[in-house]
Amino acid sequence: MVETIEWTPDDTVVMIDQTRLPREESYVTCRTYQDVAEAIRSMVIRGAPAIGVAAAMGVALGVLRTPEVSLDTEFPRICETLAATRPTAVNLFWAIDRMKGLYLSLDGLPIAERRARMVAEAKRIKLEDIAICEAIGRHGAGLVPDGKTVLTHCNAGALATAGYGTALGVIRAAVSAGKKIDVYADETRPFLQGARLTVWELQQDGIAATLITDNMAGHFLKSGRIGCVVVGADRIAANGDVANKIGTYSVAVLAKENGVPFYVAAPISTLDLTLASGAGIPIEQRAAVEVTHVFGVPIAPEGTAVENPAFDVTPNRYVTAIVTEHGVAEPPFEDSLRRLSRDAS
Ligand code: MRU
Repeated sequence: MVETIEWTPDDTVVMIDQTRLPREESYVTCRTYQDVAEAIRSMVIRGAPAIGVAAAMGVALGVLRTPEVSLDTEFPRICETLAATRPTAVNLFWAIDRMKGLYLSLDGLPIAERRARMVAEAKRIKLEDIAICEAIGRHGAGLVPDGKTVLTHCNAGALATAGYGTALGVIRAAVSAGKKIDVYADETRPFLQGARLTVWELQQDGIAATLITDNMAGHFLKSGRIGCVVVGADRIAANGDVANKIGTYSVAVLAKENGVPFYVAAPISTLDLTLASGAGIPIEQRAAVEVTHVFGVPIAPEGTAVENPAFDVTPNRYVTAIVTEHGVAEPPFEDSLRRLSRDAS
């Protein structure tokens, strides 16, 4: 399986460049926290858990490269710069807060030890994320019907995490358990994470994947061949409302209309229990050029007015269950999510 992000022995952070896949498998090397912030902003690395890991490594790079005399004044700027990259995925803020907590607890220790502990923590967050995805896979595999097609939206795979994936982790685990399934991947306009990343990733693993355009999802959900939908999440409110890639809401409504279970796979770090409902989730607005152009080629008249929200919120009534590393939450989500997050702490 592909390595999404790595801390190298010479203290740099290397990421596979997800803006260039699948045409080219190339890597970006980040030496500073500003490099990491730019990689997150420009979507070299994307996907909620992956940007959490990247942010943690960014904080560690900042602590490593900043002279000791200015570190205490610079540290808040390091965290703010990384936090200002993308607003929706709560994993980003979760990871920065965890690094911040450790930094404060190391006050008074020799600088070499503080630096080593910060780097070790960032590496630990990465390893934990892989283990979490594998646990999500184990909990979710049983939900996937044998002999059917699974529909997914965007990329919630190894590329969107430190490895294995959340939604694709469930699919991988179901395949490993011997289930005969194939995957329909929505292309996921405008950034094409489904076409470019999900199909590529599944092909690497030899899992049968068929690409469909987003507007075909309803047609196939009605056909009876889709056994379930599995998607990831960027932020889940206390009531189970789910923010995920734009277009997820339409898929969820169509799934319910056609009696197809709609599962969300996400780590506990994607829960935001401070928000009572999805209404409070900030939705990232991205550049118009992502909509007006495809690979640099204009597809709309010059000057066209554009909206480009990167995420939407699926109300909890469309969600059959939420699969986490601590088990499967079912409605009413207010109770089940709180219980699972208590188990995690
Ligand atoms: O804009 P992106 O590509 O970062 O959006 C990614 C998604 O919406 C994923 O479905 C989500 O982050 C879950 S990834 C395990």
